Amino acid sequence: MSIVVTGATGHLGRHVVEQLLEKVPAEQVTAVVRSPQKAADLAERGVRIAVADYNTPETFDGLFAAGDKVLLVSGNEFDKGRVRQHQVVIDAAKTAGVALLAYTSAPGPLSAALADDHRGTEEALLGSGVPYALLRNGWYHENYTENLAPVLAHDAVVAAAGEGRVSSAARADYAAAAVAVLTGEGHENTTYELGGDEAWSFAEYAAELSRQTGREIVYNPVTVEALTGILTGAGLPEPLAAVLAGVDASIEKGELVVDSGDLSRLTGRPTTPLAEAVAAALKG
Ligand SMILES: NC(=O)c1ccc[n+]([C@@H]2O[C@H](COP(=O)([O-])OP(=O)(O)OC[C@H]3O[C@@H](n4cnc5c(N)ncnc54)[C@H](OP(=O)(O)O)[C@@H]3O)[C@@H](O)[C@H]2O)c1
Repeated sequence: MSIVVTGATGHLGRHVVEQLLEKVPAEQVTAVVRSPQKAADLAERGVRIAVADYNTPETFDGLFAAGDKVLLVSGNEFDKGRVRQHQVVIDAAKTAGVALLAYTSAPGPLSAALADDHRGTEEALLGSGVPYALLRNGWYHENYTENLAPVLAHDAVVAAAGEGRVSSAARADYAAAAVAVLTGEGHENTTYELGGDEAWSFAEYAAELSRQTGREIVYNPVTVEALTGILTGAGLPEPLAAVLAGVDASIEKGELVVDSGDLSRLTGRPTTPLAEAVAAALKG
């Protein structure tokens, strides 16, 4: 029996594996990766490495065993049909008879196009009969703090979210919740709405950046169309730019405010404050 993590060489997956290694022996952890070279450090530490790709169903043949607890990290290939990709993992988990299949989803109220693949995957997972845990992850702090260059270049936070608020948390917080579910008991057939303890607005984010940089950074609210144009101008393909700008429209409607308390309850500690993530990003 193993705890198996897909997307283990991604940002979230790496946090999950690191935190698992603090709790269980390395030989009980399997990292599913596309590139074993990227996982060489994990192999060295005794983690079992399995090479598989959501696009190639046979790579998942025999990968899982009965009783495994599996974390399916949602893919990032938006143009490749993520529901079909995730179905490959669900089918393999069903065939093996895993004890739990946890999936990194999106908040329940999120109506933006980005959520469509998550709703489709949730449906497939529930329809499979495999014991599931839906980890409906809210937004990452890092979506913002890893993209500070244009903000600092123009002393402006540009978003199409009006006065909407977002309960973001650090990737490490969401990883800790996943680890709690994978190593704990009684999480079968449960849905968690995960988000940071504090929701913030973009005006507050700009104020925090001003405080920490000593510069005057303003919030410049724009329309969804204008933001799509700005993102396209910065080199993003138009469809992706529209999807990302659509998330801001959801934020304006309050769809990324998560007030369930599930994240801090699962991890047993408060979520990382945005100010801390800003400080880390400015230092790095
Ligand atoms: N909640 C949020 O704010 C937020 C923000 C961005 C994304 N997300 C979602 O959450 C997921 C995890 O976030 P993240 O920051 O860890 O993203 P990430 O760093 O882009 O990681 C994505 C992981 O998925 C793996 N992957 C992609 N396509 C695959 C395929 N065809 N077969 C097998 N593995 C595949 C990647 O493998 P490689 O390591 O080989 O590239 C990578 O490990 C993302 O993929 C996305 O679905 C959520």
